[in-house]
Amino acid sequence: MSNHVLLGIENVYRTYVDDEDNKVEALYDVSLEIEKGEFVTIIGSSGCGKTTLLRLIAGLDTPLSGKLTIGGVPITGTDPERGYVFQQGGLFPWLTVENNIATGLKARGVYKQEKSRVQEYIELIGLQGFEKAFPHQISGGMAQRVAIARALINRPAALLLDEPMGALDSFTRADLQDKLLELWRHDETTMILVTHDIDEAIYLSDRIVIMTPRPGRISDIMEVSFPHPRHRGGVEFLTMRKTILEKLHLASALPEPEYRI
Ligand SMILES: Nc1ncnc2c1ncn2[C@@H]1O[C@H](COP(=O)(O)OP(=O)(O)O)[C@@H](O)[C@H]1O
Ligand SMILES: [Mg+2]
Repeated sequence: MSNHVLLGIENVYRTYVDDEDNKVEALYDVSLEIEKGEFVTIIGSSGCGKTTLLRLIAGLDTPLSGKLTIGGVPITGTDPERGYVFQQGGLFPWLTVENNIATGLKARGVYKQEKSRVQEYIELIGLQGFEKAFPHQISGGMAQRVAIARALINRPAALLLDEPMGALDSFTRADLQDKLLELWRHDETTMILVTHDIDEAIYLSDRIVIMTPRPGRISDIMEVSFPHPRHRGGVEFLTMRKTILEKLHLASALPEPEYRI
């Protein structure tokens, strides 16, 4: 194992039994190493085990067999060093924006000492002026930024994001993607993002992990090596998108793109 590995996932299996007593192989022999500071996205169709994998990394669930480690130490439960952001909601509706973010610090008992960081994170997510607003008074995109700030204020080694932008319109989504890159650079946090948006994966990540369902397994891992800022209409971007579509078996019948000159 290299010194740079933060997260080790080794031959992990997780099986569920559904309502009709059928065995569902949500994860089947999944292995992956994630390096410190890496931005990894996990992509794949619904039901391929993405949330199951993220919950195992978070320590919200345990595998049937296999091993998960962080910094070489087995994961045995949840810990603020692994921040978790849900698909939507997740904010306390009775708390203001600043108090929602402060709960991260309070949970660790360091609110008094680190109080000033609440304002720092409000500025980082661009919500100055909304400190006293309640979740129902802000937009969905703003609420997701608050949820991300609440997790990041604990300076987690890894931030786990389960389709945090799934419910947002495409403009808000693009905006939040840029914010996420900014936060990633600011804190050098390792990012593990689940998405089913191929463009989002290419725009953001160092590596894209492609999963396929029944049984849920990793079918491919791709490096995205071209530099930021990435242009969604650029040749490298579109070529990569086509490759991923093919790997997901969605594009075999598509005509050749026009950028081939
Ligand atoms: N608590 C559960 N009980 C039974 N089956 C489950 C449970 N959680 C997930 N599954 C099943 O496991 C598979 C993977 O689910 P999930 O990890 O949520 O996939 P994804 O997040 O990629 O959509 C699916 O077939 C899903 O129906
Ligand atoms: Mg899911």
